[in-house]
Amino acid sequence: MKHTGTKTIETTRLVLRRLELTDAEMMFRNWTSDDKVTRFLRWDAHKTIDDTNRMIQQWINNYQYDSTYYWGMYLKNDEMIGSVGITIISECDFKGELGYKIGSHWWNQGYSSEAARAVIDYMFRNTDIERIGSFCSVENFASRRVMEKIDMRYEGLLRHYYKTGDIFHDCASYGIIRDEWAQTYFKQQERFSEK
Ligand SMILES: CC(C)(COP(=O)(O)OP(=O)(O)OC[C@H]1O[C@@H](n2cnc3c(N)ncnc32)[C@H](O)[C@@H]1OP(=O)(O)O)[C@@H](O)C(=O)NCCC(=O)NCCS
Repeated sequence: MKHTGTKTIETTRLVLRRLELTDAEMMFRNWTSDDKVTRFLRWDAHKTIDDTNRMIQQWINNYQYDSTYYWGMYLKNDEMIGSVGITIISECDFKGELGYKIGSHWWNQGYSSEAARAVIDYMFRNTDIERIGSFCSVENFASRRVMEKIDMRYEGLLRHYYKTGDIFHDCASYGIIRDEWAQTYFKQQERFSEK
């Protein structure tokens, strides 16, 4: 695959950029210590800022590889409110998986959809990725809604697809492929250029 790595993206209300060690305090305060955020995730809410420091350091190490796509989500005043990323799950198949999280204080204001859409555009425009998938627990209604809002297509139910604690979750699987993305993307461009 052709890779470009994590480059800064600007949207209407957000800046998506690489994590930095100096982000630790606001990252811990705003979302990594929030147990509402980690309810469906594999890791527990951070107890101390050291946990967050270690997470940032791991991502900084990963940024040396061009196949790493992981952005902090920042308001225009540089307040960090969450993260969004694409994991390349198979180079041979040109496919990746989308994930996102945002502090509960900022839920339901369209931020994750705005960030996820921008990241999908970035990947299809700058790499030769063919498919971006995403899945979440069937009970994670907000996450399912994000996938629908960003034009990912529902592809089916994955039974007991992942485990958190003692619980096996049935998951809803969504995906978007390059042709579908191009149709929506270029339609949007036409709409913009009509204005
Ligand atoms: C999932 C998550 C990222 C969504 O972030 P967000 O910024 O609130 O998302 P958006 O505001 O863009 O969209 C949320 C949508 O879900 C809807 N929603 C929220 N709770 C819902 C519920 N219980 N039932 C149905 N819809 C719901 C909102 O109304 C909104 O849709 P709308 O714009 O059509 O009204 C956020 O809830 C989160 O961080 N959750 C914890 C981490 C997580 O689960 N990540 C996904 C792992 S796969």
